[in-house]
Amino acid sequence: MANQTILILDFGGQYKDLIARRVRECNVYSEICPANISIETIQRKNPIGIIFTGGPKSVYEENSPKCDPKLFNLGIPVLGICYGAQLMSYLCGGLVQPCKTSEYGQREIVINPENPLFKGLEKNQTVLMSHTDQIEKLPEGFMGIAMSDSCKYAAISKTEKKLYGVQFHPEVELTINGIQIIQNFLYAICGATGDYSVENYLNKQISVIREQVGSEKVLLGLSGGVDSAVCAALLAQALPDRLICIFVDHGLMRKGEGDSVEKAFSHMALKFVRVDASDRFLKKLESVTDPEKKRKIIGAEFVEVFYEQAKKFGDAKFLAQGTIYPDVIESGTDNAATIKSHHNVGGLPEEIGFSGIVEPLRGLFKDEVRQLGMQLGLPAEIVNRQPFPGPGLAVRVIGEITREKLDILREADAIFRNELEAAGNQASQYFAVLTDLRSVGVMGDGRTYDYTIALRAVLTRDFMTCEYAPIPHEILAKISKRITNEVKGVNRIVYDITDKPPATIEWE
Ligand code: XMP
Repeated sequence: MANQTILILDFGGQYKDLIARRVRECNVYSEICPANISIETIQRKNPIGIIFTGGPKSVYEENSPKCDPKLFNLGIPVLGICYGAQLMSYLCGGLVQPCKTSEYGQREIVINPENPLFKGLEKNQTVLMSHTDQIEKLPEGFMGIAMSDSCKYAAISKTEKKLYGVQFHPEVELTINGIQIIQNFLYAICGATGDYSVENYLNKQISVIREQVGSEKVLLGLSGGVDSAVCAALLAQALPDRLICIFVDHGLMRKGEGDSVEKAFSHMALKFVRVDASDRFLKKLESVTDPEKKRKIIGAEFVEVFYEQAKKFGDAKFLAQGTIYPDVIESGTDNAATIKSHHNVGGLPEEIGFSGIVEPLRGLFKDEVRQLGMQLGLPAEIVNRQPFPGPGLAVRVIGEITREKLDILREADAIFRNELEAAGNQASQYFAVLTDLRSVGVMGDGRTYDYTIALRAVLTRDFMTCEYAPIPHEILAKISKRITNEVKGVNRIVYDITDKPPATIEWE
């Protein structure tokens, strides 16, 4: 049985993933679709409701994204958010105009608590507004159901048709009761039953995979990252002893990481093949200093090693990939079974001749993947792993890479991470970098000429921008003492206090 579904029409707003996740948090399955989705496709998908996202354009701009206005006559409830509310109003015959001054930030609004959208809420609410246009005149049959000092139609509805629009953003935390408003739309207006959960996704996927794979074997490349690890754990449960995991150890992982991946899978019903390819990678990287060249070499070598191994398991007819829902959304299509251009896999050679691709995480957001990983019994250190670049420490050893430099970096990085974790620091990503700078120091009575380690810790949600994490000086001092005392070859520690932009998170 298919889950009840909410379609989210993407008008270019930055919060589309967030809206989709909020709906799922309310136990209703959600899918993001292009704004111009056809009426036939909508009918085929048979949603219980539709949500319009916000967007950066103005509805009266000629090339602004629009939906088919027939959508309002399908009898399917619609909730328009920000641009989505303006568009609904505009397409139904209302008037949208620029505000006197753009509104951005938390605002107080007064709602009509009698309206089903606001069921259970007090009259006064705090919401996040972020708009330069607003609804000036309502379309026929609509009424205002919320207002603020500067926005007379902060929410509108045509209740008997189940059409609703909100000028504010219920999906963000700054709208204090936003989740309740979404919940009301889903349950009181669309008639949701709450039939979606990660557990239910797992059970469904297990039968889908069994049906797809039949009695064949599946091959999966493990990178040590969250997605491929959860994919492996799920497949091991669905197809006991018919999954072969190839773990290419490029020798560029952090301290103990390879062993921890191997340990996590040692008790699962799968064949785990760990390939120590560090010599090959290091040889190819000899005297290479350009970061992009390093990435290309590592990507190509990874494919090469995986290819060689795959040939040894010619009886595996399916290739599994840890593609997740944001990858699908980014690629702009929900039905193309493309080979994921994985961080360090530049596409796999076609000659391997798999008869199909298995992508069991295709429908899940990252937080759901992590939840599933915990349910499947993976250790927290893997499930909650911070992002780690595919090329690994190769882009954290500045300049030429050698085994000695990698060892120095691994030790310093482990101390930094352990100390930060012990101090309960909440940085989003944190690591050490081995700069190619050597400087003079003293140790005992002698002069040293050793490396400088840079420490980097950042706060970010999306990794597109970040702020440096203000780590207390006492913690930095302790880390500095430990690294210079315990790691041979390092005599100076610096802390990176740049945001992104202008810097990037990684140094290379
Ligand atoms: P930057 O350095 O661009 O990093 O600010 C943003 C995020 O991406 C990660 N990163 C990579 N991930 N392959 C990856 O899979 C790469 O080559 C790569 N370079 C950077 C970085 O760790 C941060 O989380």
